[in-house]
Amino acid sequence: MSYSKPRGTVDLFNQEMYNFQQLQDLLLKLGQKFNFKQIKTPVFEHVELFTRSAGETSDLVSKEMYVFKDKGDRTIALRPEGTAGVIRAVVENKMLNNQPLPLKLMYFESCFRYERPQAGRQRQFHQFGVEVLGSNSIYSDFESIVLANHILEKLKINEYVLEINYISDANKRAEWIKVLKDYFYKFYDQLEEVSQQRLEQNPLRILDDKIESQKEFVKKAPKISNFLNEDEKREFQTLLNLLDESNISYKINEGLVRGLDYYTGVVFEFISTSELLKGQSTLIGGGRYSNLVSEVGGEDAQGVGFGLGVERILIAASKNSENIFKKYNLDYYVAALDQQNVKTAVKIANQLRKNKQQKVEASFSNLKFDKIFKNASNQNARKVIIVASKELESNQVIIKDQETFEQSVVDLNELFKNN
Ligand code: HAM
Repeated sequence: MSYSKPRGTVDLFNQEMYNFQQLQDLLLKLGQKFNFKQIKTPVFEHVELFTRSAGETSDLVSKEMYVFKDKGDRTIALRPEGTAGVIRAVVENKMLNNQPLPLKLMYFESCFRYERPQAGRQRQFHQFGVEVLGSNSIYSDFESIVLANHILEKLKINEYVLEINYISDANKRAEWIKVLKDYFYKFYDQLEEVSQQRLEQNPLRILDDKIESQKEFVKKAPKISNFLNEDEKREFQTLLNLLDESNISYKINEGLVRGLDYYTGVVFEFISTSELLKGQSTLIGGGRYSNLVSEVGGEDAQGVGFGLGVERILIAASKNSENIFKKYNLDYYVAALDQQNVKTAVKIANQLRKNKQQKVEASFSNLKFDKIFKNASNQNARKVIIVASKELESNQVIIKDQETFEQSVVDLNELFKNN
């Protein structure tokens, strides 16, 4: 009997695993720079949390969730996105009352969506995300975008556009949706079948549907901007000015509504223009949500944040990955020429690991010169340490640098001191 991994999942190992790990470290470090504190929430939650927050009619809930009954007959879902669990944890642990505000949380977690797999789209994938809670300031929206932009800059990803829109509050959205529905009914026959089905429940999705958004009547559909009041227009303009002043380019896309129901106010997406991510181009998506905290049982507090698709970012960064990520190499490969010195070789390796924080591999059997070098290059070791009886008599070993080909005889005390 042989087994293969479930569709839409991957095994990560070797350099890919190392790049993934380095990306995780980099993201968490950049988040820390902005004073985000990491949070870990369960990989599964009660299904209602996601149904309530993302909305019954969202694709995420209606089609993509992994839902199952546990042995206690509870209906459980694997986390399809990071935000809902964080908000649940914030409310449950009363963090908005016992932590400094704004509360700034970040996460790096696996998420699960039952989607058709392709490059940049997996059934188990990872999101890095941030959430700023308890701040109504447009500066929080700005700061989230600045962080997202900073991440892409650090990773030398420059083939993307930042699209941005302002989708207002639930009441104005309801007015807009009503007008929009009436408008789309006039063009019912020109809508795709899937949009005809969406029309009653979720007409906003028609606006950012890839096929529909190319049609003239969709382009001319009533805009949310016609429903914004003066304060909202001013707030949006403030954000745009801040972005201009920071030289962050953006494109206003009035069709951008995002796929989850909880957004109000600013929404944004960093969309890749790279050939590598043709079908799955949204690298980072986020925005403001005003009612999510109260819907999950908390107080009336706003939040804003974004989620970044780790696998998509790795694809987008892959062109340049040699300049961004370190190679998964060893600092030293240590081996002895004679059986009686194997023990010393192993001890040297341990000393370097312990006192010098080096990555070291030791051979447990004595080897000939050419085998040592062959093993060292197979292991991608930067330097080779050869333990030979003659040198060892004066407490020395032979060291060869595999990159510069320099070879020297080094005193062990020196090695442990300077290396
Ligand atoms: P989202 O746009 O649904 O937003 O997902 C965020 C990112 O996760 C996407 O832009 C994409 O890069 C990545 N992603 C989504 N599905 C997949 C998949 N099947 N395979 C690989 N990557 C994927 C959210 O999830 C919101 N929680 C973001 C947010 C946080 N808004 C406010 N705070």
